[in-house]
Amino acid sequence: MARVISIANQKGGVGKTTTAVNLGASLAASEQKTLIIDFDPQANATSSLGFQRDPARKTSYNTIILGDSIERVAIDAKVDSLWLVPSDKNLVGAAVEMVSMDHREYRLKAAIEAVRDSYAYILIDCPPTLDLLTLNALAASDSVLVPIQCEFLAIEGVSELLDTLMRIRRTINSSLAVEGILLTMYDDRTTLSKQVAADLRSFFGGQVFETVIPRNVRLAEAPSHGMPVIFYDIHSKGAESYIQLAKEVIANAQKRVGAGTERTDSGTGAAAAAAGAGSASGAGNARVGAVGGESE
Ligand SMILES: Nc1ncnc2c1ncn2[C@@H]1O[C@H](COP(=O)(O)OP(=O)(O)OP(=O)(O)O)[C@@H](O)[C@H]1O
Ligand SMILES: [Mg+2]
Repeated sequence: MARVISIANQKGGVGKTTTAVNLGASLAASEQKTLIIDFDPQANATSSLGFQRDPARKTSYNTIILGDSIERVAIDAKVDSLWLVPSDKNLVGAAVEMVSMDHREYRLKAAIEAVRDSYAYILIDCPPTLDLLTLNALAASDSVLVPIQCEFLAIEGVSELLDTLMRIRRTINSSLAVEGILLTMYDDRTTLSKQVAADLRSFFGGQVFETVIPRNVRLAEAPSHGMPVIFYDIHSKGAESYIQLAKEVIANAQKRVGAGTERTDSGTGAAAAAAGAGSASGAGNARVGAVGGESE
């Protein structure tokens, strides 16, 4: 059954879409059948995967407003094991149209439940808002992955977001976990990046992914070629980092499944691989799903 992960941050331009597309492609390349749901009217995930505007194509709008099943709306993303529910600007109106509907926060959840068995991962690319669209995404998700840029006031931004997630746990989705906080556009030449990264790790500890996404021009170029970075330039630092992130996400899922079973010192093959090429190995701080992580 798919793990459903919202990629969300109210702040714009922090790398949500870049992460949805490239984590999605990297999971698919690891033979994990993955569905990306473009849930942003900007439709950047759709165009990043090479799909130009096409008014005849069904989109996530059809799914949540008109009741078309995801099975009917999803298209082959032209990458093995990767599927896409596209978006377009029609989705702007959806939040308004949903206001008068029954169970308006749960419309995406209902659509996803019907296809959960068909995928290993479902990633939802959220808009940079906290409107009904994002609430639908969070209501439908097992966890949220929060991309964050290493910049001044980053901790305040994440704290606010985690407060919001706590409220969502109390209201629409009590089991929403934090998949992880992901440092994006990291520039190891700047003291600020390093300092902010260190602060975030000391503040949020194991909730921060070991993998860090560097600022990398290939990641910025790939969308204009309509392809994930692993197909645009597999040898780039950007490609490496998202492959690493996919390994970390898969290893964390395996840890959850094996929770209760003893972890050996070297870990499972995949967990060890994920810990391998990345940054400092972070011995002993195996990340947990952080359900109810607000308690610390
Ligand atoms: N690691 C990176 N290195 C270089 N450029 C990046 C990186 N990540 C993202 N970008 C670029 O930064 C811009 C914003 O990224 P992206 O669209 O992924 O952010 P977003 O959070 O989805 O934005 P929005 O809030 O508007 O949806 C894009 O032009 C993208 O190509
Ligand atoms: Mg985006």
